[in-house]
Amino acid sequence: MDWGMKNRLGRVIKGGRTVMLAIDHGYFLGPISKLEDPGKAVGPLIPFADALMPTRGVLRNCIDPEADIPIVLRVSGGNSIIGKDLSRESITTSIEEAIRLNVSAVAFSIYVGAESEHQTLMAFSELVNQAERYGIPTLAVTAVGKELEKRDARFLGLSCRIAAELGARFVKTYYCDNFEKVVEGTPVPLVIAGGPKLETDLDVLQVVSDAIKKGAAGVDMGRNVWQNEHPVAMIKAIRAIVHENVDAAEAHKLFLGEA
Ligand code: R5P
Repeated sequence: MDWGMKNRLGRVIKGGRTVMLAIDHGYFLGPISKLEDPGKAVGPLIPFADALMPTRGVLRNCIDPEADIPIVLRVSGGNSIIGKDLSRESITTSIEEAIRLNVSAVAFSIYVGAESEHQTLMAFSELVNQAERYGIPTLAVTAVGKELEKRDARFLGLSCRIAAELGARFVKTYYCDNFEKVVEGTPVPLVIAGGPKLETDLDVLQVVSDAIKKGAAGVDMGRNVWQNEHPVAMIKAIRAIVHENVDAAEAHKLFLGEA
């Protein structure tokens, strides 16, 4: 791996682990609850995140350019939650724009098994070709659209493997039963999304802990952090699991102490 590629990836995944903060939801969901004002929502969380995942619009308008935080730029879109086909995403942001914005990586959603499977896999491959030219790592997001029930080891294992085969330098997926099978079949680091807000704080911490124990490199979570009543306490507790190997019960105590 070239120095530039290693350096950018190493800024996001530090010592093999990462706590990424996803704030890209507006690109197809609009101003969802607690992310109406992205700058306000993430400002207090930035000191505890290893990387931020916004779109270029939110990065430019809501994130302080002096903030010392690596950016994993969401560069796919073209769909909306009320549109006909949620899987129909293309590259929205050129590689020159990503370089101009000084990003550490670019992110793209692939929709395996969906109507636009071929289109998203080919667009992702094109993004890999462009990004590799400049030593920029690509993050593939194994999207499931509205079909959350798809999140099992067979489907996610297939999606993650395809993403890695196409050249993803790291992959974002969901935690699931038999997650170790997904890890085993994916020869690049995996980070997990959180999905819609879970019922309890302990549930969130348990998922993170289980994912780390089974081989995830970390998290790229959004709603379960900034929709929490105590987002700073939550990201700190998640950090303790990811970077200090604290278990879920211990992290929960830390959360309660901070909340
Ligand atoms: C989809 O909306 C985005 O790619 C999110 O970044 C991703 O789903 C992670 O956020 P959450 O933890 O809220 O699922």
